[in-house]
This record gives sequence, structure tokens and C-alpha cells, in this order.
Amino acid sequence: MCGIIGFVGPQESDALDVLLDGLAGLEYRGYDSAGIALANSPIDVHKRQGEVSSLESALAEADLASESVGIGHTRWSTHGPPSDYNAHPHTDAEGQVAVVHNGIIENYQSLRTELSEGGIHFESDTDTEVVPHLIAQGLDQGLEPESAFRQAIERLEGSYAIAAVFEGSDTVYAARHESPLVLGIGQDGHYLASDVPAFIEYTDQVIYLEDGEFATITPDHVRITDAAGETVETTVETIEWDAEDAGKSGYDHYMLKEIHEQPNAIRECLRGRLNELTGRIELEELADLTWEGPVTLVACGTSYHAAMVGVTLLNRWGVDARAMLASEFDAASVPLTESSLVVGVTQSGETADTMRALREANRAGATTLAVTNVVGSSAARECDHVVYIRAGPEISVAATKSFASQQAALTMVAAALSGRRSRELVQSLRSIADAIQQVLDTSCAREVAQAYRDADAYFFIGRGLHYPVALEGALKLKEITYKHAEGFAAGELKHGPLALVGEQTPVFALVTGDGDRAEKTIGNIKEVEARGVPVVAVTDGQSDVERYADHVLEVPALKGIASSVAANVQLQLVAYWVAHELGRSIDKPRHLAKSVTVE
Ligand code: G6P
Repeated sequence: MCGIIGFVGPQESDALDVLLDGLAGLEYRGYDSAGIALANSPIDVHKRQGEVSSLESALAEADLASESVGIGHTRWSTHGPPSDYNAHPHTDAEGQVAVVHNGIIENYQSLRTELSEGGIHFESDTDTEVVPHLIAQGLDQGLEPESAFRQAIERLEGSYAIAAVFEGSDTVYAARHESPLVLGIGQDGHYLASDVPAFIEYTDQVIYLEDGEFATITPDHVRITDAAGETVETTVETIEWDAEDAGKSGYDHYMLKEIHEQPNAIRECLRGRLNELTGRIELEELADLTWEGPVTLVACGTSYHAAMVGVTLLNRWGVDARAMLASEFDAASVPLTESSLVVGVTQSGETADTMRALREANRAGATTLAVTNVVGSSAARECDHVVYIRAGPEISVAATKSFASQQAALTMVAAALSGRRSRELVQSLRSIADAIQQVLDTSCAREVAQAYRDADAYFFIGRGLHYPVALEGALKLKEITYKHAEGFAAGELKHGPLALVGEQTPVFALVTGDGDRAEKTIGNIKEVEARGVPVVAVTDGQSDVERYADHVLEVPALKGIASSVAANVQLQLVAYWVAHELGRSIDKPRHLAKSVTVE
């Protein structure tokens, strides 16, 4: 995920040191390139693909004049591959202004076309580069920097945290809309960052910028204004955690942090892809995709469970599709033709089993589609089409937010492939982020975890879309607690696994709605409840399942994909808190790797 740092200090201070410390403090977010701009005249811009250390080496060789004002950025690619030229900061043609940006500018294509028609040449593939050019237009019209900055921001649609410096100026201008930005109030200068860890070693006094607000930061003054330019009263807060906790933003583990990042990850995934009015899913990436015959989704681990969600929806919407474990995929036994479609679902885009399957599909002449989180990954490069899930980097080995975003992305892919157009579906997708937030705010998963921390084994059951969620709930629990856990299709319990259940094996049952599937799953619950087995129901209260449950984990009453994504968050939290109770190495479980690059 991209990171921003800015510093405005008194004349004798050296912004470069602060910016480099800040970039190091943002490294935990994951990135593929880094850069800085110092407000000298002309502006000094240095950027490099790769690690902050490569940027530092380049800076060591540059003959830099000391400067007290600057901005820096770590980029996690969304538009255009990782490269020196796509790295931030971006400038206008004359180097009057340099800009760093987090988020996605949805209308950048039309702005780019407009600016290009006006004779402006673009140096990068990014959405961000329109911003310095728009600001420069304002300067050319005779506007002061602040007005030129505001005028440019007003033209943007989408999400952004933006900071800009001007040639020879001692002021940093910033704005935010749906992308975090926080100011640090120091004794010797002021800071600006996407996240507190970037400046926590300098100050713990912060002001969080709200959506729609602008900040004008000088060495001795910080002014926050609203969209109309009126000054906004703000409160300075004190950060309670220290530099050591910083990468996790105060959470004990990356996993918990990433679980809490899910509402935002989902919003990013959906951004610009839903049409509320027509009910259409607008995935431009698939505009020219054609195929015939069954669709095959290949994936491993958590991504395989997401693939199962995609297949369930494709089948419901009339498309013949199947999910295969990538390690079991064999182009010789799966009839592939030049018109077949093979979809690789892979967070990292590097998993060896999935890449082998995709390469085999490519060799067989099939059309390939990657649904991945990492821009420029092997899957993204080698497939004919790519849909990015935009979850932001995931540090914890156990996949959490990437699973939520994969489910949302695959729902959109399934709708696009089946030609489904439904306002109800669009609303369901839109409701996911708030539903997850509600679960995060109210979950009693910690008490449930405390009650069952010493269980012999844990079973998870669900039907329909809840079946892959049951499998994922079990996988998460076994990955990070090292305890035995299994997921089953609810109806399968009686065909064998029922022999395993007992007083020491809680059964987690996913039951939402009050329809046929819920009724049947309640029937399956009764089978275990009658045998004295503890039952934890994940439910929205629409059925009478609570009568048979020892504990209830609530989710909002929603239909379809929103309900199953929200239900999964409860299971993520149960796994996390059981592992916490047992003192496990949550972010780096034994024997497991985040990205498995061997078959
Ligand atoms: C590893 C990870 C899992 C992940 C799987 C697939 O086994 O530990 O969490 O689900 O790889 O990863 P991918 O990057 O292809 O989604």
C-alpha cells in the first residue's frame, strides 16, 4: 500500500533525513518503489524502483542542496508496473510542483485525455500524474499555489491523500478524500503522513485530517480548511503507542490490523466498478474477453476457497464453471481448447502451483485471467487479462483481507462473465464494507475463543456460499492455532464426520436468512446438538438457530455475498483470539510461508 511522508521545518533543518526515516517507517506497508522531492529551486526529485535502500544509494551519489521542506512516497503499484518512472513524486513539465498520492483517481483517464489534447506530455502510466499538470495549469492562469492546488483537487473523483510542494516554497499543501492522512505537530517542524509510524520517532502529537479537508503546513503554522476554504477547528491527539508498535498501527499483530483493514480494502476493490443505476458491473479489464465452454478456476489455500465462491456464483448465474486446486490441475485431463477460459486466483500472483497451472493453460492456447493483488506479479504479467483485487499488501502469513477482496472481485468477475445485471447485487456488494465494520465493532469472538481454547478439535459447517467460508474458517484456525480444524458442507456431516464430534469438539455453524438452506443447516445442527456437542452459530437472527446454539456470533441481516463475507470475519476473529489465548506466533505460524514458490 502506498505511503506518504512530508516535512516542513525551520530553515536550518534537513528535510531529507526526516523523509528517509519516514519512508523506512512506512516500509511495513509493502511497496515496490520509493521517491522524494525537496522544495529547492528547481525542485529536486529522486525516485527508484525497489527498496528505500536503493533510493538512499542514489541520493548518496546526487549532489543535493540541503532543504528544509519536502515530501516522500512509497508506491504500491495500481496503475502501471513498478518502475522508476511510475514511482512518486510526479511533477509538471517545468518542475514547478511535485505531488505524492495514495488512492485511486477514478476520472484520471478523462483528465489525461483533456490534458494531452492541451499538449501535455505524460511521463508515467499513473493516475497521479494528472494532478501536478492540473496544478500547473492553475499556476499558468496566475493562481497562487494554494488556489491552484485546491482547483486541481476539486477536479478529482475517487480516493486520495495528496501532498504537494512548490519550487522554492516553504509550504506543503495536502488534501484527503477516503484515504488517510495525519499531521504531526513537532517542536521543530511539522509532519504529514498516511500513517503515524512515518513520524512517530519525532512526535506523538497528531491531527487526523477528515474527508474533504485541506491542510496548509508551514514551519510554524498548520491550517486546516474545509472544501469551502473555511478554517476548521481541530483537536491535537496524543499517540499512546511507541515506535516499536508502529508498523502495526497499535495492533498486536499484522493479522488483526489486516482484519480491521477489510472495510477499506473492500471499498477500494469496488471503487469505480459498480453502476448503481443500471445494476451493471463495470470491469473494463474484461471488456474484450471472449470464451466458450466451461470456465476453470485454479488456486491454492485461501484463494481456492475464494475460487469456490466464484464458481458457486457462476453456476447460479448459468455459467458452467469449476474450481480446481492448482496442484491438481493437469491440462491433459481437463479438456482445454483455444476458446477455454482459465482463471488463476492468487493473492501474491507468484504461487508456484497456480503459476504452473496458468502456464499449462497458456501453452494449451486457452485464454487466461489473473485475479490477483499484486501489480506486475508473474500472474499479472503472464495472463491475457488481469483483475486486481486492490486489497493492499498483506504482511501476515494468514490471508484475511485478501480473501474478503477476492470474494468481492470474483463476485464482480462472475457477474461480468454471466452478463448478470442486478441492482440488488450492486447493493449487496456496496453493503459489505459496513457489514464488516459492524462485525468488527460488536464481535464477541474473543469470549467464544476463551470458552473453547482447549477444545480437542473445531468443526465448521455451512451451505451454499457459506460452505467455502466454513472451509476457510477451519483453515484459518488450523494455520494459526496448530489445532485440528475441519470444514464441511453442512449436509455432509452426517455422512461420516459426525463420528468425530463430541463434547470437546465445538461445531461452528453458519446460518443466515430464513430460507431453505438455513432450515436444512439448522436440521444438521440439531443432529450435533442432540449429541451434547457445543454449537456456535454465526447468524443474522433471521431464523431460530439461536435456540440450538451455546454461543452466537452475530452478522448483519444481508443477502448473498455480503452475508458470507461478513460471516467469515467472525471466524477470522475466532481463529485470531484462540491463537492469542494459546500464545501462538500469529503473524508467522510455524512451517508456513506467505508465498509458496515451489510446487
Ligand atoms: C500459501 C499461504 C496461504 C495462501 C496460499 C495461496 O500457502 O500460506 O495463505 O492462501 O499460499 O497464495 P496465493 O498468493 O496464491 O493466493
